[in-house]
Amino acid sequence: MALVPGRDILAAARRDQYGVGAFNTNDMEITQAIVEAAEAKRSPVLIALSEGGLKYGGAELPKLVIDMAREASVPVAVHLDHGSSYASCLRAIRLGFTSVMIDKSHEEEDVNVRETARVVEAAHAVGVTVEAEIGRLGGVEEHVVVAEEDAILTKPDEAQRFMEASGADYLAVAIGTSHGANKGTGRPYIDHARIRDIASRLPHPLVMHGASGVPEDLVRRLNAAGGELADASGIHEDDVRQAVTEGIAKINTDTDLRLAFTTRVREVLRDDPTQFDPRKILGPARDEMRAVVEARMDVFGSTGRADGWTAG
Ligand code: 13P
Repeated sequence: MALVPGRDILAAARRDQYGVGAFNTNDMEITQAIVEAAEAKRSPVLIALSEGGLKYGGAELPKLVIDMAREASVPVAVHLDHGSSYASCLRAIRLGFTSVMIDKSHEEEDVNVRETARVVEAAHAVGVTVEAEIGRLGGVEEHVVVAEEDAILTKPDEAQRFMEASGADYLAVAIGTSHGANKGTGRPYIDHARIRDIASRLPHPLVMHGASGVPEDLVRRLNAAGGELADASGIHEDDVRQAVTEGIAKINTDTDLRLAFTTRVREVLRDDPTQFDPRKILGPARDEMRAVVEARMDVFGSTGRADGWTAG
């Protein structure tokens, strides 16, 4: 069990029609929250590190994450989120990641194909699997600020051409979501027909970025504890459930963990201004994040899937 290639987890998910969370980590507490939740829920999981997360965590963080993944009693993939270059993906592979994303979605199609194919060749040679992206999410991507109106939804015919030419294993699609805590007014529109169209042409697992639910209760508690988060909105759980039935297999979640962490830290410090023991501040934050991850696993349908699991 333990540390496995991303495709093993995601192809099984697409085969059996459930979603698996890719949760971003930046430190020990977030990583523990993710792994503890996965073990409690008997769920496969991907732990994602972005280039920013790797920079923040230094050399020790990937070691800790990979170690915890190896020791876990459920299938875990360690994934590079939004790799910006061939070099970045190679560095992650050398660190022991089992899944990398090469994101050249802001380039022309031919450049995206070429750069993705280079990463695929290197990654596959050592058993690592690859996520690519076409189309452009609204909001802020890791490496480039994209205005809402510049969002370009993934074209199904291009998706088909791209996957055949690049050899990538799973595909991030732009279908109406965006990163962060402000995903549009009201219930953000998700283009379900587009997901179905892409999935009908491709057997590959599809990836939903910007999938956080931004739970109202967390936002209310955050603001009650001194936070100032306005216009918060996330992806409705029913849209995520439906997207899973349509072919989405990897569901990226970062914002919800950030909200849970910050809310709990604010509450603890508000409720006990004499507190200065980091364990008494970060411990409750870790528990709050774990609860968020567990709830997400129930929504995705990955709960219980680690038992009797076989690679896809
Ligand atoms: P959220 O901001 O919705 O959590 O999305 C995270 C993400 O897609 C990371 O790649």
